[in-house]
Amino acid sequence: MLPFCSRVDLIEYSSTNVQWLQRRAAGLEADDGEDWAPFWAVLAENAAYAERGGDQPLRQVADKVVVTPGSVFDLPEAQWDVGTMFFVACSISSEVDEFYEAVRCFLHALRPGAPFAAAFMIGSDGYQVDGVEFPAVRVGQTMIEEAIRDMAGDAKVIPIPSGGGDPLRDGVEMALALGLRAG
Ligand SMILES: C[S@@+](CC[C@H](N)C(=O)[O-])C[C@H]1O[C@@H](n2cnc3c(N)ncnc32)[C@H](O)[C@@H]1O
Repeated sequence: MLPFCSRVDLIEYSSTNVQWLQRRAAGLEADDGEDWAPFWAVLAENAAYAERGGDQPLRQVADKVVVTPGSVFDLPEAQWDVGTMFFVACSISSEVDEFYEAVRCFLHALRPGAPFAAAFMIGSDGYQVDGVEFPAVRVGQTMIEEAIRDMAGDAKVIPIPSGGGDPLRDGVEMALALGLRAG
């Protein structure tokens, strides 16, 4: 979103993750962003990114990113012109209702017509980080379609199979929902 947006809000619930995001944004300003360069190189194959990125596109992170502590459940209505939500709604708890409500709140926060991308883990019952167990709702393609149907009827849900014979986690895949906020 960097080349196209005057401001990018990152909303995160965990205070330690908020601090990490703030450090990363500040670090990128100090040329600490080399690990993102290969990702940007892929984006810059598209002329729209190449033209708008400038010769130091990652510096735009420091200029445009605002990290805000907050919850997806408390987002204001119709606030943003474009939005992404990656692996959040399925990874808050093991409560199915919270998955649907988080997707609804994310879409509710976008203005009518706003493009969005939302990624989900498929078939995950939870995951471990540094020995700590985190919960997940085991979602599938149909649940994702149900979650977005009322607020983005024309959205596509694209399955992303695990890569080759070396999946990140056995039995777990991903899906990407792309669409426009209805209204
Ligand atoms: C599985 S991680 C995904 C992180 C990142 N988006 C990525 O793709 O690598 C889920 C993230 O959702 C955050 N989260 C959990 N509950 C949340 C809530 N109610 N509102 C916003 N973020 C939340 C967690 O702190 C965590 O950073």
